[in-house]
Amino acid sequence: MSASDFRSDTVTLPSDEMREAMASAEVGDDVLDGDPTVGRLEAAAATWLGKEGALFVPSGTMANQVALGSWTSPGHEVICERGAHIVNYEAGAPAALHGLQLLTLDGDRGALDAEEVKRAMRSDFIHCPDTGLVCMEQTHADSGGSVVPMEAMRAVYAVCEEAGVPVHLDGARLANAEVASGVSAAEWAATADSVSVCLSKGLGAPVGSVIAGDAAFLERARVVRKRLGGWMRQAGIIAAGGLYALENNRERLTLDHALAKDLAARLDRLEGLSCDPEDVDTNLAVVRVSSPAPAASALAQALGEREVLVYALTADSLRFVAHSGVGEEDVSRLEAALQEILGG
Ligand SMILES: Cc1ncc(COP(=O)(O)O)c(C=O)c1O
Repeated sequence: MSASDFRSDTVTLPSDEMREAMASAEVGDDVLDGDPTVGRLEAAAATWLGKEGALFVPSGTMANQVALGSWTSPGHEVICERGAHIVNYEAGAPAALHGLQLLTLDGDRGALDAEEVKRAMRSDFIHCPDTGLVCMEQTHADSGGSVVPMEAMRAVYAVCEEAGVPVHLDGARLANAEVASGVSAAEWAATADSVSVCLSKGLGAPVGSVIAGDAAFLERARVVRKRLGGWMRQAGIIAAGGLYALENNRERLTLDHALAKDLAARLDRLEGLSCDPEDVDTNLAVVRVSSPAPAASALAQALGEREVLVYALTADSLRFVAHSGVGEEDVSRLEAALQEILGG
C-alpha cells in the first residue's frame, strides 16, 4: 500500500484521461509561431477569469513574479498580507529579481483591511518609496485555505483604484474558492488587475500556472516572462494537462473540501488535537497540537513512520491537505495511526 500523502495538493498525479490529452496535444513553437494548445489554454483561462487574456507559465511562483515585475519598478514598495506566499515562500524573489521591498500587514484569516492598506500607502515624498502594487491571495494558504470574503477584497480594490495603485491576486487556489463560495472565478478576479492561478495543485495538472490581465499588462508580462526564462517552446504537451484540468477537474474540488472537513471533525475528537471543522473553508485543515500530544514535528515524524505524510506548519500545528490522491480510507488510516501514537 502506498503512503497516504496529506502534505500538499501538489502531489496529485495526472489521470489516464489527462495523460491521453497530453500525448495527443497539437503543438508548435510557442516563442516563434505560437503553440495551438497553449493558445487554447490561455483563451480558456482568460474567459474563465473574465480578463482580456492570459499567459501560460511554468509555476505559481513565476506567475506571481511576472506580475510583480510587470506592475512595478525597482525601489517600489509592495503591500502584502504577512502570511502571503509572495512574502514567505518565494525565496526573496521580489527583492532579488525586481529590486522591490515588501510592506506586510496583518490580515484577518488572510483578509487585508482596506483602511489599513490606505494608511500604508506612501505619500508622494522624496524620502519614501512609491507604493507600486498591492497583493491579495485567494484562497489564503497560510490561514488554512480560508476564503477571503468578497467585501474585504472589493474594499481593498476600491482604495487601490482611488489611489491609482494596481492590485495583483495570487489565486493559486482560486478554483477552490470558486466551488466553496459559489462565486465565479471571474467575480473574484474582478477585485484585481492581474490574477494568477495554479493548474498543478488541486486541479491536478502536472505543471503550469496562468497569469491573466488586460492587453497592456500582458504586453509587459510577456517581456518579464521572457526575462525569467518562462517562455517555453512545444509547451502544448503540458498546457494540454492544464486545459484538461480546467475543463474537467474544478467541480470535483468539492470532494476535497468535504474530505478536509471530515478529517478535521475526526481529528478534533482525539485528545491533544483540535480543529474546528467550521474553520475548514476548502481543502486545507490546520490541526492544533497540545499536551498530552507530542510536538507537531514529532507527531509528523511518527506519522511518517506509519506511511502517513503530513507537514508540521508550526511547533504546535499540522497542516493536512485533501486532494484527488487521498480519500476516506486515507483519513481512516491517519486516524488509526494517531490513535496508536497518542494512545502509546
Ligand atoms: C498561495 C500560493 N501561491 C503561489 C504558490 C506557488 O506555486 P508553485 O509551487 O507552482 O511555484 C503556492 C504554492 O504552494 C501557493 O500556495
